[in-house]
Amino acid sequence: MPATIVVGLQWGDEGKGKTTDLLADSVSMVVRYQGGDNAGHTVVVGDAVFKLHLVPSGVLQPHITPVIGNGVVVNPRTLLREMDGLTERGIDTTRIRVSRNAHVIMPYHVALDGASETRLAGSGAGIGTTRRGIGPTYADRASRSGIRMGDLLDPAFLRTRLAQVLPERNRLLAENGEPVFEIDALVAEAAGWGERLRGQIVDTALLVQDALAAGEHVLLEGAQGTLLDIDHGSYPYVTSSNPTAGGACTGSGVGPRQIGSVIGVLKAYSTRVGSGPFPTELLDEVGRHLSVRGNEVGTTTGRQRRCGWLDTASLRHVVALNSVTSIMINKIDVLTGVPELRICTGYRVDGAPVRWPLTLGELERAEPVYEVFPGWEADLTKVRSERDLPPEAARYLDAVESHAGVPIEIVSVGPERTETFRRVPKGFPSGLPAGIA
Ligand code: IMP
Repeated sequence: MPATIVVGLQWGDEGKGKTTDLLADSVSMVVRYQGGDNAGHTVVVGDAVFKLHLVPSGVLQPHITPVIGNGVVVNPRTLLREMDGLTERGIDTTRIRVSRNAHVIMPYHVALDGASETRLAGSGAGIGTTRRGIGPTYADRASRSGIRMGDLLDPAFLRTRLAQVLPERNRLLAENGEPVFEIDALVAEAAGWGERLRGQIVDTALLVQDALAAGEHVLLEGAQGTLLDIDHGSYPYVTSSNPTAGGACTGSGVGPRQIGSVIGVLKAYSTRVGSGPFPTELLDEVGRHLSVRGNEVGTTTGRQRRCGWLDTASLRHVVALNSVTSIMINKIDVLTGVPELRICTGYRVDGAPVRWPLTLGELERAEPVYEVFPGWEADLTKVRSERDLPPEAARYLDAVESHAGVPIEIVSVGPERTETFRRVPKGFPSGLPAGIA
């Protein structure tokens, strides 16, 4: 069976963890393909809430092999803490596999990220990163100065690599008035990570290829979202990897022709964490309603998420960038009680209509063009069938689908696994992988 990609269609936090969890029955392997512990996936099973930053959410299903692919940057401190927490709750973490080619977020990367954010924030230019060391680690990967997971298994080689790269990182830290790192302590800690993970650090591209060759269904799970993509997002207010479907191929070792479906995950409104343009942002009572009802607080940093109207002008472009075949829409229940709803369908810059993608300057000046819809008062959290939706909510979904140009097939009305129903697309064939209930 071909692989399926789950990709975020906005600025992250669309609810991808829940999508993966829902598809899990038909899947034997879940692969994270980019990002690191800047991500936060919340999965609710009954009364249990699992907050995962690095381990793929498929870990909660005993039949799944959770894989951290080569495109991920791994902070072993976070990984081991998460594995210990899961083990305490009775979940087998020995099944987790980590790519030996994935880059390690070393303690100095975290320190460099923090120092850079503090320095930029002083001049009002901070990215608002999660301060998890993501950018500095990907920068070292690109400049061939990184440490890879496989290196942790060979302390002598690790020491040689650190002796080459640490002085420059320490110089940068010292310049910023930050404490520097001792090579002996770093080698000792990193070799300890390697010892604990020995047997789980493998060539994951081979593992994934073997699974596909055996006809298994492999899910490639993205973190963050398309609008935070380093190439396609509002640079520099982006993350340092490719959350887009293309990143799923390079970040896991799967070829484009091995992908069968791309499920795009969309929140029924927009949210963004950190700095950067957000043309449909709501700084009023409606924004506060979405923030409070949607519990829009970052899983990783605890920061308040900015909220705004859904943007279908960007959605059309994002659907194309990712070859989305089907959409899962989350949190439609949060829109209950908003008297009048809006969907952005285009932009005007300096009075003239423009199409997405916009430059950073244009985005900052962009005036959204809105379509207006009546809201609804009914609580949607108990809805389990499209037929039980208020007509206004059904109309809202129809409009989003028609603007997206691809089917909306899964609707989520609450955080729990069961708070979901299937929707019949209007005029579009199904784009879900075969065998999904
Ligand atoms: P970084 O990925 O920590 O370097 O942060 C870069 C930008 O991406 C910042 O605006 C972060 O708030 C944002 N970001 C990173 N990870 C996530 C996520 O999982 N959800 C939402 N925003 C994120």
